[in-house]
Parts: sequence; C-alpha cells; structure tokens
Amino acid sequence: MVQLTLPNNSKVKKGKTWPKPEGANAKALREFRVYRYDPDSGENPRWDTYFVDMDRCGPMVLDALFFIKNEIDSTLAFRRSCREGICGSCSMNIAGRNTIACTKAIADDKGVITIAPLPHQPVIKDLIPDLTNFYAQLTSIQPWLQTETPTPQGEWRQSPQDREELDGLYECILCASCSTACPSYWWNSDKYLGPAALLQAYRWIADSRDEATGERLDALEDPFKLYRCHTIMNCAQVCPKGLNPAKAIGKIKELMVERQT
Ligand code: SF4
Ligand code: FES
Repeated sequence: MVQLTLPNNSKVKKGKTWPKPEGANAKALREFRVYRYDPDSGENPRWDTYFVDMDRCGPMVLDALFFIKNEIDSTLAFRRSCREGICGSCSMNIAGRNTIACTKAIADDKGVITIAPLPHQPVIKDLIPDLTNFYAQLTSIQPWLQTETPTPQGEWRQSPQDREELDGLYECILCASCSTACPSYWWNSDKYLGPAALLQAYRWIADSRDEATGERLDALEDPFKLYRCHTIMNCAQVCPKGLNPAKAIGKIKELMVERQT
C-alpha cells in the first residue's frame, strides 16, 4: 500500500478529543483522527479525534464523516455529491492513501483511521483542497472533440473496435487522487500536468473521431508538461476507478517518438 506524506504534517498539532456518542456500545466505537484547518483563523492545523458509533453508521468513510458532522461537530467541512463513486468530489487521504470516501469501506482499516485533505494542495478548509490549478490544467488539454470535417447529420460514428480504445480512459471521474499522490506533481505542479490531465489528454488523442492529434501532441511537447512523469506509478496504485494514468502517459510518449521517426 502506498503511504503518502500528509500536508504540512510536521506543523499539525494535536487537537481536541470529542466526547464519545452517548449510549454507544464500546465495542461498536471506531476512532477517527481528522485534519482540521481554517486558514482564516491564523492557527496551525490540528488533528481532532472523534468516535463514531458503528451501530448507527453506514459502512463507508463518507458515512462516518456524515455521522461526525450531523451528531458531533457540525463545523467539519468536506466535499461530496453523488455518494456513488461517480462525481469525484469526496476524494481525500484516508489512512495514508488517496481515494474517494464514499466507496472506501471503514472495515478496510484496523485501529485509528486518519482522514486528511489530498496532499500538497492548498487547503480551503478542513478536508477541502483548492483544486483551481488541477482544473486549469485539465482545461489546458482541451478535453472535448475537435474536428475539421463538417459535422455529420446525426452523430459522429465510431466502430466498436475504436470505441474499445477508450476503455480505461473514459471512466475517469477527475477526483485528483492520482495527481496529488504523485511526487513529481508535488514538486512541479505549476509546470507538470500530472497523471489526471495527461490521462484525459490521451483519452482525446486515442479517440478515432478526433482530428486534432497533431496539435494535441504539439501542446504536450515540453520538458515539464509531459516528461516529468518518471513512472513512479503511485497514480495507478491509488486510482479508485482502477485506471492506469502512467500507461496512458507512456502511450503519449510512444506517439511522440513515432512521429519523429
Ligand atoms: S485517473 Fe483515477 S485517480 Fe486520477 S483523476 Fe481519474 S479517477 Fe481519479
Ligand atoms: S461523493 Fe461522488 S465520488 Fe464520492
């Protein structure tokens, strides 16, 4: 299992231990240590400790966060939307590993479970990272179909074989778990596009209907945007959808070589 460095870990102080839920069976309690930070407060981040009554809580980490927010501490801030592993908004670092909280089972981990925001991103509040740069990088690869031939009546057609080329690419939910698990991205996120944006770039390069492959490759021909991938593979280890961004990055690099020979 990949263990990741938590944000500003050395500066995170011990915080408050909140009272255990009243009337809970001691055997049903699970302990969570949750990263708390409000940049406007002027205080360092802290780890607050909460006890969740598993007799009254669903099985996923997102259920535990809802239990904490609804029954213990309403000030805790986190993102979520679909609760079904589709929107990507509940990504965070759970037990040292980036993933999405709504499909991460509490039972996967024994003992105290730590929950922190995605590493190496600015924190807006508690478990909410500022992903402005991540989305700007996604925008930069122009993630939409680009064509020169006139738009056909009906729809752009694609053979089943060509459609299969997009398997393992189109399923990305843009949760940012991969990019924020990548040491190269940690140190160069202003210039290296990171695994998520590059997987999306390849998703359009590989699409038989797209007619901007040359321009897309030109835009990635840069010492930092693409070539800062050193195949560390954390991206594939953590992706909650089982995707392999490093493989997609490798395909782009192959195309770069092919077009020069
Ligand atoms: S490739 Fe996986 S980890 Fe990366 S953004 Fe997409 S779904 Fe999330
Ligand atoms: S809430 Fe949508 S992926 Fe978790």
